[in-house]
Amino acid sequence: MDDEQLIALARESMRRAYAPYSGYRVGAALLSADGSVVSGCNVENASYGLTICAERVAVATAVAAGKQDFRAIAIVTDGSAAITPCGACRQVLAEFGLEMSVVSQGVETRKSWSLRELLPEPFQASSGWAGRKDDRVS
Ligand code: THU
Repeated sequence: MDDEQLIALARESMRRAYAPYSGYRVGAALLSADGSVVSGCNVENASYGLTICAERVAVATAVAAGKQDFRAIAIVTDGSAAITPCGACRQVLAEFGLEMSVVSQGVETRKSWSLRELLPEPFQASSGWAGRKDDRVS
């Protein structure tokens, strides 16, 4: 799965965006280590703060489908410039590893990074917490 294919899947998801308030449609496609792809789109709400970004919809959908080992995410908008994922989405993605690649495609421009570049020092649960990673139920 190359960037072009992942971007095409994110674009397909963007077309399903629910964005009646901003009019700004975003799609995301998340590639797992097993080669599967789960996508998401932004879902807005009349109570604006409840809006969920496309990236977080993709993460939640993927985790619910049993995927947690993410390698790459593509983000597509119908605006001219490639967007950078918001801070909340960076932190949510970072929960599953900082090595994934992030590629963002606007109508006219494309940008790409590693997640580590976008979020060099994510908040991480301390080892004393019940929710720490090595306590995950498999
Ligand atoms: N949005 C995303 O889905 N992902 C981002 O990375 C940035 C913003 C959405 C949220 C809202 O529905 C619209 O774009 C405008 O902010």
